[in-house]
Amino acid sequence: MARKKIVAGNWKMNMTPSQAVALCAQLKDLVVNPDVDVVYCVPAIDIVPVIEAVKGTNVQVGAENMYFEEKGAYTGEISAEMLVDAGVKYVIIGHSERRDYFKEDDALLNKKVKKAISAGLTPILCCGESLEQREMGVTMDWIRFQIKSDLVGVTADQVKDIVIAYEPIWAIGTGKTATTEQAEEVCKGIRECICEMYDEATAAAVRIQYGGSVNAGNAAELFAQPDIDGGLVGGASLKADFGKIVCY
Ligand code: PGA
Repeated sequence: MARKKIVAGNWKMNMTPSQAVALCAQLKDLVVNPDVDVVYCVPAIDIVPVIEAVKGTNVQVGAENMYFEEKGAYTGEISAEMLVDAGVKYVIIGHSERRDYFKEDDALLNKKVKKAISAGLTPILCCGESLEQREMGVTMDWIRFQIKSDLVGVTADQVKDIVIAYEPIWAIGTGKTATTEQAEEVCKGIRECICEMYDEATAAAVRIQYGGSVNAGNAAELFAQPDIDGGLVGGASLKADFGKIVCY
């Protein structure tokens, strides 16, 4: 069965609640493509107004982060249950900015992945190598380490429904996209890793996105690759161009 493409915007720390609502209105008619699942991953404070703003459209809403504990004394954190109750469907886990600036390690990310799944959220699990790692020739070793560590204890049935985003760190926000060949090579490698960890059916079902300077000009070629099932889009998700990416 063919995998449905999924294009998710990662708004990062952009858009006040009122700006968020205005952006939803601006993009509303531009992001309609029945062959693509469209997701806006938005800052926590924008979740409630954005869910209201996209009601009745094809857009689903995701969070950019969550905590793995059920509830309690974790000042500043947001639980999976809170996200679900608000109507959130997806949650980005392990973005390189969170791994880097907020020191989130794979043991923590594994807990978040498991919590998200058990709460009924779809994780968009990010992985990716630094420029130094690519130059050292350890890209695939590193990605395999991340995937294996972050999916400890996650069953094949659960993995089928998650989304994995391959985002080379050197391509994020730099305007320097991985070549189509580089992106496909790693996405294919991730699928092979899932096949080894689980089985062929699971590997064939899991959706793998490419992320890192995706724009209106390169989306079509990237998404045409056999192992690239869509994109995780930062900068270009904040403007009308996002419509062109969704309707690539
Ligand atoms: P970018 O960000 O599209 O601005 O490179 C992608 C991401 O970090 O998800």
